[in-house]
Amino acid sequence: MEEGIKVGKKAAAIRAVDDHVKDNQVIGIGSGSTIIYAIDRIVERVKKENLKLICVPTSFQAEQAILENGLSLGQLSMYPKLDVAIDGADEVDASLNCIKGGGGCLTQEKIVDYCARDFIVVADERKDSEFLGEKWKRGLPIEVIPMSYKPVQLKIQNTLGGTANLRMAAKKAGPVVTDNSNFIIDWIFDGEQDWQKVDTFLHSIPGVLETGLFLQTAKMVYFGTVEGKVVVRH
Ligand code: A5P
Repeated sequence: MEEGIKVGKKAAAIRAVDDHVKDNQVIGIGSGSTIIYAIDRIVERVKKENLKLICVPTSFQAEQAILENGLSLGQLSMYPKLDVAIDGADEVDASLNCIKGGGGCLTQEKIVDYCARDFIVVADERKDSEFLGEKWKRGLPIEVIPMSYKPVQLKIQNTLGGTANLRMAAKKAGPVVTDNSNFIIDWIFDGEQDWQKVDTFLHSIPGVLETGLFLQTAKMVYFGTVEGKVVVRH
């Protein structure tokens, strides 16, 4: 990853943690590369300020990071109401709608982020778009039950157009398998969409578990620039 991008991710993560994390909170911990900087900042503050926090993971990756850093791990069955969730995104539009799931963790992310009073997004400035799909060209991630992947692909392509690709693993022969033992379809689309309609349609297909569309759920987005400045949108 380019140094400037890392600078942006780190700046956004630090600022979001400092603005939103307070003592005695239950916090959702997102997934991806940007969230690692947020976890580092949380660890720093826990040590320095002796904060008492419960951290609820959005993925296996997040759970490992919580445990490896000695933070207190919680689960939704014990802590169904979160104060704040901090998570990354693949693209954010002018109204704070997001595409997520580039790392394949969209379902747990959506569940955990939805349980938070404040869902806060941290990202580098490349993710800042006027509309979804303007810059993000890897498609909309959709988690599907494995046996349904072919009919789901066909239904999407025949109804919405574009291409619905089964996400393949880089270092194994076969598809990417999610933390829930499912597959991911990336729907490559053209131009601006009516995302509410697309989301409703996708959820109507048997076999679709969840989509990477996070519509009207983010409260604030922190974009970090290559110079280390942070632009906040809410
Ligand atoms: C994981 O499935 C994703 O939703 C990530 O949160 C998203 O891809 C952002 O990742 P980065 O912080 O690595 O860009």
